[in-house]
Amino acid sequence: MHLVTAKIQLSPNVTRLDLEASRIAEIRQPGQFVIVRLGNGAERIPLTIADADPARGTIALVIQAVGKSTRELVALEVGDSILDIVGPLGHPTEMIASGRAVCVGGGVGTAVVHPIAHGLAERGVEVISIIGGRSREWVIFEEELQRLGQVIVCTDDGSYGRKGFVTDATREVLEAGGVDVVYAVGPVPMMRAVANLTRPFGVHTIVSLNPVMVDGTGMCGGCRVDIGGQTKFACVDGPEFDGHLVDFDLLAERLGTYREFEQQASTACEAGSCRVGLTRPAPSLPVQP
Ligand code: NAD
Ligand code: FES
Repeated sequence: MHLVTAKIQLSPNVTRLDLEASRIAEIRQPGQFVIVRLGNGAERIPLTIADADPARGTIALVIQAVGKSTRELVALEVGDSILDIVGPLGHPTEMIASGRAVCVGGGVGTAVVHPIAHGLAERGVEVISIIGGRSREWVIFEEELQRLGQVIVCTDDGSYGRKGFVTDATREVLEAGGVDVVYAVGPVPMMRAVANLTRPFGVHTIVSLNPVMVDGTGMCGGCRVDIGGQTKFACVDGPEFDGHLVDFDLLAERLGTYREFEQQASTACEAGSCRVGLTRPAPSLPVQP
C-alpha cells in the first residue's frame, strides 16, 4: 500500500498527490511514469512522475480528473492509500548536455515538462519554459519552473501572462534563434502544432505521448503508436518520441476509441457509483488477550 502524504489542488480539475513509494523515488528519472491501481479490480492509470523526494521516499503524481478512475484518485485524502504503483516505467528523457532547451507545457502537460526542465537545469542547460492554460487558474508549476530558468506564461483568454496559445510564444523564441531542442507535452493538437512549428527551423523536438495503456509492459498493444512508419509501444519504447515522426492522426483516433465507455463510466460515477474511500486503512482490531 502507498500512503498519500500530501494533496494539493493545482487547478480546478488538476490535483497533486504525494505518495509513499521509496524505491521508485530513489531510481526514477525525468520522463518516466508509473501505473497506479487504486484498489482490487480498479483500472490501471498511467501517470508521469512529476517530482520525487528520495529523502522522504515520496513521488508526486499530477492527476486531471476527467473520468471515473481519475475522479476516484483525486478524491483520496492524506492518510488514504493506493493499492499498487508499478514503475518507474518507460525510457528516461533524452537530455542534451549543454545549450538551450525550450520546454513547452500545455495545461496539465506542464506537470510532465517539470521533471524534464529540472533534469536539464541540473546538467547546466539553459531552460526556457513556455507554459499555458485556458485562463489564470489553469496555469500550474509556474513557481517550480521559475527556479529553473525563464518562464513565459500564456493564457487562452489573456487573464494572466500573454494572451494566446503556447505555440505563439514558442514561435517567437524560435525566431530569436539559438534553440537546440524543444520538449513539448500537452494535448495532442498542441504537440502536433509545436512539431509543425519547429520543423522548418530544423530544431529537434521531443513529445511525450499518452495513448491508452493497460499493462505497461509491451504485451497488450494498447499503447501502439506510429513513429516514422514504424509501430512502437509508448510504454516500453517511449513515452517520448521525435515529434517530427509521430502520426498524430492515429494517436488522436486511438485516444477516442473508448470515449463512449469512458463517458458511461463517468456518468455512473456522477450518479454515485465511484469507489471513493475504498482504500482507507481498516481500523486496527483490538488486541486479543
Ligand atoms: P487544454 O486543452 O486546456 O490546453 C492547454 C494549453 O495547450 C492551452 O492553453 C494552449 O496554450 C495549448 N493548446 C491547446 N490546444 C492547442 C492547439 N490546437 N494549438 C496550440 N496550442 C494549443 O489542456 P488540458 O485540458 O490541461 O490538457 C488535457 C489534455 O492533455 C488531455 O487530452 C490529456 O490527455 C493531455 N495530456 C497529455 C499528456 C502527455 O503526456 N502528452 C500528459 C497529460 C495530459
Ligand atoms: Fe500494453 Fe503498452 S500498455 S503494450
